Amino acid sequence: MCLIENPLAESALSFPILECIHIISFSFSVGTIALVDFRLLDLGMRRQTPAELLKTTSAWTLIGLVLMIFSGLLLFSDDPEMYVQNGAFVIKMVCLLAAIVFNYTIHRRAAWSKETSASGKVVACVSLALWGSVVFGGIFIAFVNPGSGSGLDLGR
Ligand code: HEM
Repeated sequence: MCLIENPLAESALSFPILECIHIISFSFSVGTIALVDFRLLDLGMRRQTPAELLKTTSAWTLIGLVLMIFSGLLLFSDDPEMYVQNGAFVIKMVCLLAAIVFNYTIHRRAAWSKETSASGKVVACVSLALWGSVVFGGIFIAFVNPGSGSGLDLGR
């Protein structure tokens, strides 16, 4: 039961525009984190050390994450009851929390290294898997139908 009218509901354009902002800002956030991961995996950008690349990208990553969370909360406010019952949304939020904590602890320590190492490669793989799960969780929100037995409803 929602007492206050959500201003987003007043225009049919607000949700798609917000979703565009959500998608664009993930290129800043997940995109820049993936650049550091590929460098840790020795897959290109060898003119810079992982530490230098992290220094160059960390402000963009933070701006992207803030925009993701802000636009995501606005998207969420469109139908909070539906989203909290949506398995894909819940999995995405759990993975997002784990990915953010991992990014600013273990991943940061590995990226500050001057050299790439075996442990740095493992950290990069975990990071890519965590952020990949957030993205897949986001995409599958639209295909998961809360309350249906199977959960998946490809007809939506
Ligand atoms: C870095 C963090 C995030 C990433 C990478 C991410 C990624 C995505 C992706 C890929 C989509 C699918 C877009 C589409 O299919 O068009 C999406 C949709 C969505 N995200 Fe996020 N998201 C993030 C954070 C958040 C947060 C913090 C929230 C809310 C608290 C949120 C709420 C939503 C909602 C409600 C949708 C729309 C689902 C729908 O009804 O189609 N997201 N997100």
